[in-house]
Amino acid sequence: MIPINLPIIGEEEIEAVVKVMRNGPLTSALGAGPMVTQFEKKFAEFAGVKHAVAVNTGTAALHSAVVAAGVKQGDEVILPSFTFVATAEAVVMAGGEPVFADIDPETYNLFPDEIEKNVTKKTRAIMPVDLYGFSVDSKPISEIAAEHDLAVVEDAAQAHGATYADKPAGVFADAACWSLYASKNITTGEGGVATTDNDEIAETLRLIRTHGEKAKYSSLMLGYNYRMSEIQAAIGLVQLGKLPTFVAKRRENAKRLTKLLAGSDRLKLPMESEERKHSWYLYTVRLKNSTGNERNKIVEELQKKGIGAVAYYVNPVHQMPYYREIFGERELPETEKAAGQVFSLPVHPGVTEAQVDYIGKTLLDLL
Ligand SMILES: Cc1ncc(COP(=O)(O)O)c(C=O)c1O
Repeated sequence: MIPINLPIIGEEEIEAVVKVMRNGPLTSALGAGPMVTQFEKKFAEFAGVKHAVAVNTGTAALHSAVVAAGVKQGDEVILPSFTFVATAEAVVMAGGEPVFADIDPETYNLFPDEIEKNVTKKTRAIMPVDLYGFSVDSKPISEIAAEHDLAVVEDAAQAHGATYADKPAGVFADAACWSLYASKNITTGEGGVATTDNDEIAETLRLIRTHGEKAKYSSLMLGYNYRMSEIQAAIGLVQLGKLPTFVAKRRENAKRLTKLLAGSDRLKLPMESEERKHSWYLYTVRLKNSTGNERNKIVEELQKKGIGAVAYYVNPVHQMPYYREIFGERELPETEKAAGQVFSLPVHPGVTEAQVDYIGKTLLDLL
């Protein structure tokens, strides 16, 4: 099976881990040991901002950033339903209410007009998601946020390597949150990072990461244990150095696949422009005018032929039992339509040219 994603780990990562294990320290009680500190410095450079705060999952980064951006009990946060559930979890964990808004069918990202429509007196923040690794439309989102005095917390979990107006995705938000889960463009097994240019937000992120403590046994606010270990940071440092090569290979594979699939009038292919460069975390196509059943059948057939195609996300968050029960029914026509039509194909750096050709040909034959 050609998996949809694959961690690419070399001898350098293994050596970096062994070095930490031999010499220690393995972690730091206040959150930032020498490896974590080095990793944060490099990650902030990569993200084009002053601060990076490394944590133990992307979900922890999202939760901390939502709190640090000022979301409190009863505040509303506008976000897409067409995302991984962690985006919404972060809002609920902070005591906020997720307000799901519809997407732009061209990019699958939050549609700025739909954000505007959902702003109320209780809105405190917007959480756009760089879905599949394609940057959100940062300019209009920043304008809406400025007009209504809202914070922007960007879910950049899938966006390592994506750009908007020649800058890394996430730069225009008050905080951006990255995942380092094993499927992501770079990984530390489990891990996450929150990045920001705002000194106050960075300070709060660091407090939240380690029990609200600046000094031991003297909590200044409610915190958690969201610390990244030194072992994870050592892997992260090596992976970050490899990111440009990883993304270049993903782009090469994506281009080759696009060339092969361009002839099909049944598929809408993923877009990329000079203004918005993809991270190619997921190469997602849309089966035009199809019902969920037809899409599911294609995915099943691809899997039978050894291609790890997956539909992200078959259940939009607003339709999940927990969210429907607590936050009520909502109609999001573009989200619901996309959820029945999209599926992703493997383009990760471990996919060879011959495999890309096989994926393209197999899909065309099936169609
Ligand atoms: C869009 C999105 N948000 C949040 C997360 C959560 O990240 P993690 O799995 O590292 O907690 C992920 C990845 O799993 C994701 O894809």
